[in-house]
Amino acid sequence: MSINPRLFSFVGGAEGPWRSVESRAIRGESLAEIKRLQIVPGEVVVPEAKWVLQGVTSNERYVTRPEKDLLVAKQEGLNRPEATRAVLIPIQKSPAWWALTQDERREIFETQSQHTRIGLEYLPAVARKLHHCRDLTGEQPFDFLTWFEFAPEATPAYDKLLARLRASVEWSYVEREVEIRLVRE
Ligand code: HEM
Repeated sequence: MSINPRLFSFVGGAEGPWRSVESRAIRGESLAEIKRLQIVPGEVVVPEAKWVLQGVTSNERYVTRPEKDLLVAKQEGLNRPEATRAVLIPIQKSPAWWALTQDERREIFETQSQHTRIGLEYLPAVARKLHHCRDLTGEQPFDFLTWFEFAPEATPAYDKLLARLRASVEWSYVEREVEIRLVRE
């Protein structure tokens, strides 16, 4: 069977280039503490891992053409040598969120919460990658795996970004959120 090239496994355990420096539950249940994290393409079985989270990159759901053009003009990719800090934030949204229609979700996501408008202020310092978990075959503990990379000096700005998004209406639909801060070594 061919492997979906958009599928990635986040393996938390004792191996990998990213060392965990802090892990905490923002809302709901936490994840087991890990020493290191590796991101592996495809599906992997790592018996000694504390946990493995899977997600697929996908097409965009909410951005408009003008927003997309702004994002593409400003955003930078992952793996920049100076971006030695990373944060993995797995998120689960509520059944109420998933019961909404696409236009209702867009209204909350952008019109009320200005997720993209706020996020754009933090580009290009913060690079990001969004993985979706809901439509994978096995049951998944989260709906999204969000991944961010930045240079150490961008940490205060990143913290501010988190505070602003978490204060938004969109976040009232977040039921579980874990924040894992990492350093590349
Ligand atoms: C670095 C600045 C950021 C930018 C520019 C940004 C931009 C975006 C955009 C454009 C989307 C929508 C993609 C689509 O159309 O489907 C999105 C989705 C999302 N972002 Fe952000 N974001 C940023 C930071 C964050 C942070 C810090 C978090 C987590 C704490 C986060 C969590 C999410 C989640 C969970 C989704 C999926 C929402 C859903 O489909 O319900 N983002 N982001």
